[in-house]
Order: sequence, then C-alpha cells, then structure tokens
Amino acid sequence: MTVTKKTIHGEWSSRFAFILAATGSAVGLGNIWKFPYITGENGGGAFVFVYLLCVALIGVPIMMSETMLGRRTRQDPVDTMRILAEEAGADSRWQYLGWMGVTAGLLILSYYSVIAGWSSAYILKAFTGSFFDADATAVKAIFDGFIESPLQLIFWHSLFMAATMLIVVRGVHDGLEHSVRLLMPGLFILMILLLAYAMSTSGYFQGLRFLIHPDFSKLTADSILTAMGQAFFTLSLGMGSVMVYGSYLSSDVSIVKASYIIAAADTLVALLAGLIIFPIVFTHGLHPDSGPGLIFKTLPIAFGSMTGGWLFGILFFLVLAIAALTSSIALIEPAVAWLVENKGFSREKACTLAGLAAWALGLGTVFSFNVWADFRIFGRTFFELLDYLTANLMLPIGGFCIAVFSGWIMHRQDSEQELNLPTARAYAVWKFLVSYVAPIAVFLVFLNAVGVI
Ligand code: PHE
Repeated sequence: MTVTKKTIHGEWSSRFAFILAATGSAVGLGNIWKFPYITGENGGGAFVFVYLLCVALIGVPIMMSETMLGRRTRQDPVDTMRILAEEAGADSRWQYLGWMGVTAGLLILSYYSVIAGWSSAYILKAFTGSFFDADATAVKAIFDGFIESPLQLIFWHSLFMAATMLIVVRGVHDGLEHSVRLLMPGLFILMILLLAYAMSTSGYFQGLRFLIHPDFSKLTADSILTAMGQAFFTLSLGMGSVMVYGSYLSSDVSIVKASYIIAAADTLVALLAGLIIFPIVFTHGLHPDSGPGLIFKTLPIAFGSMTGGWLFGILFFLVLAIAALTSSIALIEPAVAWLVENKGFSREKACTLAGLAAWALGLGTVFSFNVWADFRIFGRTFFELLDYLTANLMLPIGGFCIAVFSGWIMHRQDSEQELNLPTARAYAVWKFLVSYVAPIAVFLVFLNAVGVI
C-alpha cells in the first residue's frame, strides 16, 4: 500500500492545538453573520431545529470521517482520495472529490473575504464613533452607503485577502495555530457580554421565541436544504478543510472526542449570535429577514447605545474579522496543500496563486451589492448564486461522498484502526451513521428540494 504517514507541512503541537485550529476554522462568519440572517429569512425556530438535527446526525459523523481520511494519508485532499481509493481497491475517480473540495474552498473564499472585509471596515467605523447614539435608520443608512461603494468594498476585500495569504504562507505552526489561541476565548467573552445587553432589551423574549419556537408551517423544501447546507458550511465540512487539518493531526488523538468538542463550540457560538441579534431586531422594529446586512444593521445600534459601546464595537468587529481569518485560512489551505504537494510549488507561490484567483472572483460578489445588484442568474445575484452553489450543493455533495466512501468503500479494519474508538459499539454507531443515516438524509433533502418528494 502506498499510504505515506508523514505530512510535509508539520503537525499540530497538541490535541488542544488541533481543537483550537479546527474550531477556528468552524467558527467564523457562518456562525455570526450567516446563521442569524438565514434563520431570519427562513422563519426562525423550525429552521433552527432542522439545522441542529443536521449538525448532530449528519455533520458530526461526517466530521469524524473527514478527519480520519485526512489523517490516514497525511496528504492534500486530492491525493488523499486517490491514495485511499487505491488502498481500498476502488475507482481512481474518487480523487475528483478532492478536486471538488479544492474548488469549493476557493469559491467560498471569494465571497467570504468580501464579507470579512465589511467586518474589517466596521472596526474603523466603530473606532471613529460612527455608531454613537445612532438609531436603526441611521445605522441602516451607514450600511447602505457603505455597500453602494465598490471601491470601498474592494479595498477591504483586498486587505482581508492579503492578510489571509500572509498567514497561510507562514505554514501550520506559526500561522494557523497561533492566530486562534487568543481568539476563541476572546470571542466567547465578548459574546457573553453582548448577550447580557440583549437580555436587557425589551424585545428579548420575542427574539428568544423567534429562535426557539418551531413553526413548521414556515419550513419550505428550500429552507430545509439551506439548513442542511448551513450545517456543512458552519462545520467547514465536505470540502477538504477538515481533511487537511486532520492530515496535520498526530495519530494518538481521539478524533471522536475532538469532533464533538468542535461541533458543540461551533453550535454554541451560532446560537449565541442568534440570541444577541434577534432581540435587537425586535426591539428596534427591524425585520429578521433583512438579508446579509442583518448583523451590520443591528449590532451597531447596541454599540451606539450601551455603556462602553465604543470599545465593545471595536472589539467585536475586530474579533469577528479575526474569526473570519481563522476560517479563511482553512478555506485556502486545501488548494495550497494541493499545489505544494502535487504541483511542487513553493508555499509562497501556491498562496499567491490561490489567493489571487479567489480575490478576482470576489469582485463579482463586490459588484453584486451595487453595480450588478439587478443582474440575476436563475433569479439570484452573483453572490447568492455562489453561496447557493457552494453551501447548498457542493458541500452536501462532498459530505455525501465522504460518508459513502468511509462507510462503504474503505475497508472496515482501516477505519476501525484509524478512528480507534474505545468500544465496538461506539464504532458500530459511527458506522451506521455514515453508512446509512447521513447519506440517506442528504439524499432525501436533495430529492425534497428538487420537488421529487
Ligand atoms: N465554517 C466557516 C464559518 O462558519 C466557513 C468555512 C467553510 C470554513 C468551509 C472552511 C471551510 O464561517
């Protein structure tokens, strides 16, 4: 067998470092920016319920599989799939799964960087006191004025992409690991403080109810697909990031425990974000379905009126930008690892190439908020189309294939050995989830979305 058990990129220094980095990859704009606005667009509680179900039944087992596949070969996603297919005596076309992941990562990064740029711009806005005493109308005007300007968006998008490239050039240890150590606790503390503020608002219970009270009549086939897509997106699944991070993980770490911790932390941050945003939405008579601008139209109202809001505002957008950065490095890493391992590029050259490609594509997202706002493809703006294509289609398809591969194609003794679960029963549960539950659930959601069931 050609399983090479060594990575050329170095390993995480400890289990804790891996958990931090993987949580850093999972926690990002998906939790704080995307989760609240798509929950708002899809009617609240019932959507959240489906999302949580997808995280638990589909996301967590697939996360275990994806980490395991990466750690077994210690290669980039394309080579991981090629080698594992060979090891299992399966079709070499499994490597296309790696390809799709590398592509999805760059596509997501292209718009991720634009939104992360908004957050970076808001650090400055908070610093210069733009939100001071601003009401909902003033805050909305600030946001609308900002996204109308392609030049401003391009500036912040470029800055963010450059930061991503700089960190990734430095490699696993110096770059990826150090940047998450301080961030996660910082983000958590800030969110708890903001929650205290949200709990003091008059709309708190209305917000809470919106988030947890399931009204299933609001669920459409498309919102179920979106909830599932969000489970993949928020856990960074189905596109090779987790595979690459797993390939830097030392063999003695329990993948299962780590996966639970990462998924729990990720879910907690998303729910906290919802608990903070919706009370502000209802207190100020805003609409939960205000789209991608939701957090930028709500949180500044809080910062403008609460004690210490100036400092909170700066810190919050700073932490959000850094949380986005620890996710964007995970988005670009599969492409970089592939270019380095497979094409023999230097890390510098690989980062530059991948970063520039994502940057250029990001311009489409920039324009979809202003000059191309009326330009629709299949009824969607460029940004919406890209988001739909990646989160709702490519990631679940990638996840489906990962589940099928680890449940049906990979030899039992290989997955048993690599997962190293404490009991035979625990292994049987995982095996059942990835062989049946996850693939069937993804399949049914797809059938439902295209109207077959
Ligand atoms: N999970 C990240 C977030 O929620 C986004 C992401 C997706 C990162 C896929 C890496 C891979 O913000």
